[in-house]
Amino acid sequence: MITVIGSINWDVALRVQALPLPGETVVGSELHTGLGGKGANQAIAAARAGGNVTMIASVGEDEAGRNAVRCLTREGVTLQLQPSSFPTGTAVSDEGQNSIMIYPGANLSLLPEHVTKEKLETSKALLLQLELAKETWQGAIRTASSAGVLVVVNASPLQDATLADFTGADIILVNEIEAGQLLGRSRAKTPAQALEYAQELCKTFPTVVMTLGGDGVVWATEHKRGLVPAHEVEVVDTTGAGDAFAGALTVALVEGKSLEDAVTFANAAAALATFAFGAATSPRREQVLEFLQSRLHHA
Ligand code: RIB
Repeated sequence: MITVIGSINWDVALRVQALPLPGETVVGSELHTGLGGKGANQAIAAARAGGNVTMIASVGEDEAGRNAVRCLTREGVTLQLQPSSFPTGTAVSDEGQNSIMIYPGANLSLLPEHVTKEKLETSKALLLQLELAKETWQGAIRTASSAGVLVVVNASPLQDATLADFTGADIILVNEIEAGQLLGRSRAKTPAQALEYAQELCKTFPTVVMTLGGDGVVWATEHKRGLVPAHEVEVVDTTGAGDAFAGALTVALVEGKSLEDAVTFANAAAALATFAFGAATSPRREQVLEFLQSRLHHA
C-alpha cells in the first residue's frame, strides 16, 4: 500500500492572453474546474499507475469537498479524512502558464497528530508534497521514517523550506528551480549542471530525482546517476504533469523497479498527463506501458 498525505483543492483555471495588471480586468476564453491539489493529483496518479492507495487529507463540508471525495473514491483511492470547519482548498490559475494562487483552507486542518505511526506502518511508501502546514509534513516524514516506511517527498511548493526540514526523507523529488533553492544557488541551467546539483543533494538524501521539463529527468544516488530524456509530445496543458510523475514513480519503486526504470515509467506518465486540460489527468498503467512500447518501436 502507498499512503499519500497531501492537499486536496478544487481547481479553477481560466485561459487568458495575459495576466491582469493592477486595476485591469481581462476576459478569459475558456474555463475549467475540477479536482486538483498536489496531494489529490498524486494519489490519483499512483492509483491509475496500479498502486493500492490511501490518502490522508482534509476537506471542508462544502460542495467542493464532496466533489473531491467523489472523484478520489471513483479512482479507487481510500480516504482517511480529517473534518475541517474551513472551506475546501482552492487553486485559481491562468491555464497553461502555471501561475497559481492558492487558498489552503481545509488543507491546514491536517495536523501532525492526525498522521500517526499506526496509520503509516502498514504502508510500503509514504508520498507527500508541501501544500500542508509545515509541522504536518515534517511530522509525517519523521513518523514514516521511524516506522521504516520508504519516504518519497516532492518538495513542492518549496517556499522557505531548507534541506534540514526534510530529515528522514529517502527520496527527494524536485525541479531544477527547487534544487537550486535548496542548495542556495540559481536554477540548474543545463542537464550537466542538474546532474551536479543532484549529486550535491545526495550528500543529504539517499536518492534524488530532478525533473527538468523539456530537458528530461536526472536521477542520482551516492554511486550512480543518469539522465532520462523528455518525450517529444504535443503539449496541451502541463498542469499536474509533475504530480503524475510523482505518483507513477512511487508505484514503480514500490514494485521493486530500479531507480532508472522507475524514472523512465514516471517520465512517460508525465508526458501523457500533458495531453489534456486539468490537473488530475494522469494516465492509466496500460497507457503508460503502451506509450513506452510505441516509443521503443519508433526509436
Ligand atoms: O500541481 C498542480 C496543482 O497545484 C494544482 O492542481 C493546484 O491545485 C495546485 O495545488
